[in-house]
Amino acid sequence: MREKLLKLLKENDFISGEKLAEELNVSRTAIWKQIKNLKKIGYTIKSVENKGYKLVSNPDIPIPEEITPYLDTKIIGRKIYHYWEVTSTSDIGREKIKKDAIDGTIIVSDIQSKGRGRKDRTWISNRGGLWFSIIFYPRLLPEQGMILTMACSIAVAKAFKKIVDVNLNPEIKWPNDILINKKKVCGILTEFDAETDRINYAIVGIGINVNNNIDRTLKQTATSLKNILGKPVSKVDLLKYIIKFLDRYYLDIKACNYKKIRHKWLFYSKIIGRKIVVKRDTGTVKGIVKNIDKNGFLILDNGKEKMRILSGDISLI
Ligand code: BTN
Repeated sequence: MREKLLKLLKENDFISGEKLAEELNVSRTAIWKQIKNLKKIGYTIKSVENKGYKLVSNPDIPIPEEITPYLDTKIIGRKIYHYWEVTSTSDIGREKIKKDAIDGTIIVSDIQSKGRGRKDRTWISNRGGLWFSIIFYPRLLPEQGMILTMACSIAVAKAFKKIVDVNLNPEIKWPNDILINKKKVCGILTEFDAETDRINYAIVGIGINVNNNIDRTLKQTATSLKNILGKPVSKVDLLKYIIKFLDRYYLDIKACNYKKIRHKWLFYSKIIGRKIVVKRDTGTVKGIVKNIDKNGFLILDNGKEKMRILSGDISLI
């Protein structure tokens, strides 16, 4: 009902309670209650006697009603859950999977009280950021899992260019950070449930610093889209575009067509030929990046041999 109500308010200048009630087949009291709820979450709705209701402004909250009606995607975002606060959207993703969530389901939250990053690091997730997770049933082999993360990072980078500025140069830092002007704007955490010969499901958690304040301790290394642009960026529009772009890449994955994704990812990563140092749990290695193989492994020439590296923190030398 809320979706239809918002649509009618958006399509009309003033619309009477009576007309709304008729269109939605509910009582005028039910309409009045819904309007009250919308106002509570930040919608400005004017009511004028004999004219009815008028939507004056929307808050920037990625509720499904603001996104799904504007999508024509095949898989991604067919179901969206919005929360005000959760521990981690990826935890909610796992719960949803137990209850039969569909492929491409999105869980988004305004705040995460226990947001997590790679290697069990804390991911600070205050209001203003875009924190969400996507559920995938990708029919991939475990060693092909990285292609999903790659698809997500290029969808995000492309959406940045679309929403913020076409001249923006987002850079993907292997394996999955997105930097602008050398500072981190987005982090991606992919979690799999797999057997030896297949991935049962993947939950890709994406954290984007949009309009949130950057923690004092991170200011040297991280920034937000709002800082870059000098004004707030719409989280609703950003999420819509990420979903739109990701849907295309995910259809490619479903069709076993990984070439385009890898190609685009290499375009954004600009890592080949660079001298880097990789910090891993087992130690540190230096070398020149020779390639990113078809499964997303980093091929590093350390001067003696070519190493195939799956994970680690890299920095350019
Ligand atoms: C990283 O760079 O270390 C990855 C950060 C991933 C953060 C996102 S926010 C949405 C999802 N929920 C989480 O708890 N983490 C991911």
